[in-house]
Amino acid sequence: MHTRDALDRPLHDLRISLLDRCNFRCPYCMPESEFHEDYQFLTKSQRLTHDEILKVARVATSLGVSKLRLTGGEPLLDKKLPSLVRGLAELPGVEDLALTTNGMLLAPVAQTLADAGLQRVTISLDSLDEDVFRKMSGGRGDLATVMQAIDAASAAGLAPIKINVVVERAVNDHTVLDLLDHFRGTGHIVRLIEFMDVGNRNGWRMDQVVPSRELLAKVEARWPLRSADRNYPGEVARRYEYADGQGEIGFISSVTEPFCGSCSRARLSSDGMLYTCLFASRGTDLREPLRNNVDDDELADILSRIWLQRADRYSELRRPDVAEHHALSKVEMYRIGG
Ligand code: GTP
Ligand code: 5AD
Ligand code: SF4
Ligand code: SF4
Repeated sequence: MHTRDALDRPLHDLRISLLDRCNFRCPYCMPESEFHEDYQFLTKSQRLTHDEILKVARVATSLGVSKLRLTGGEPLLDKKLPSLVRGLAELPGVEDLALTTNGMLLAPVAQTLADAGLQRVTISLDSLDEDVFRKMSGGRGDLATVMQAIDAASAAGLAPIKINVVVERAVNDHTVLDLLDHFRGTGHIVRLIEFMDVGNRNGWRMDQVVPSRELLAKVEARWPLRSADRNYPGEVARRYEYADGQGEIGFISSVTEPFCGSCSRARLSSDGMLYTCLFASRGTDLREPLRNNVDDDELADILSRIWLQRADRYSELRRPDVAEHHALSKVEMYRIGG
């Protein structure tokens, strides 16, 4: 069954944030000034258990979800991740099961995750310049370790590997061509993401965004590109291929070219809130019904009611010039999941 929202968009993806914790402090997501050692992250009892997550995912598949992505925070901080992956991979109707990670903890578990049924990984990596990388991971990341993780993921068959690069003006934009050059010909797909105004704590300003149009011109001046068709309806990245056959890159332009019209994603936070937009200020608590032993039919009813009413299209309505838009209290990215 395919449930459609108020704007006729199907429910297709469920993005599951496993933890709000992270071993990085990327300034665009969890700036150290806010997320210091006294910051109160969710406790274990506040977070959904794996059985609760499996139940939501199972019911979601009955409503048309076929794509699952595990995110965080940093999902690999969950030491029991392989068994959750196994459970999710076994759900009927799951066609795509992916993980978003910063890569620091991936290499030792890449094969275990692949054996458990994980199909592919997306690794966040903002620069190959040591200093820029350190700065953008909040002083926590080690570039060599992340590069090893990419190799380990590749050896484990978690492909195609995608490399997510958040591009910020005057921070890492001058290192983008080097990064593309490194991954050309490897089969890994680099995606250049416009810095977004998610949450309220990253001090986002429009002048820090490098519009994809501008970046595309810069890339094309070095390597001619051909535009490629979408892989599936609702794909967030616009795809390009190098004309010389050295692979694919993507542009994710949610600020300058929003894609809400085809947005088919629901997001489950680690404390069990279901959000229907990355920029939501409100969600629906599923943890309480889950802890009251809601049955599958009742949960399906709750989920489909949420989806039927959904009319979110934040990025299309966003006006960078209207201050009130940023003043909305939005859920933070590390909590709602990339
Ligand atoms: P594939 O399944 O590999 O195509 O990946 P994906 O489209 O699910 O992309 P991924 O999860 O790697 O997301 C990449 C980035 O795109 C995220 O980190 C966000 O910055 C942005 N993004 C993803 N989904 C949305 C969305 O629904 N709205 C907005 N505004 N941005 C999104
Ligand atoms: N703008 C764009 N992308 C972001 N991410 C986190 N915060 C932002 C932001 N403000 C991306 C990271 C990572 C994923 C989890 O979300 O690059 O790939
Ligand atoms: Fe952690 Fe990813 Fe947020 Fe960076 S962007 S702080 S790696 S959750
Ligand atoms: Fe979907 Fe909201 Fe992103 Fe638009 S802003 S694409 S509705 S998550």
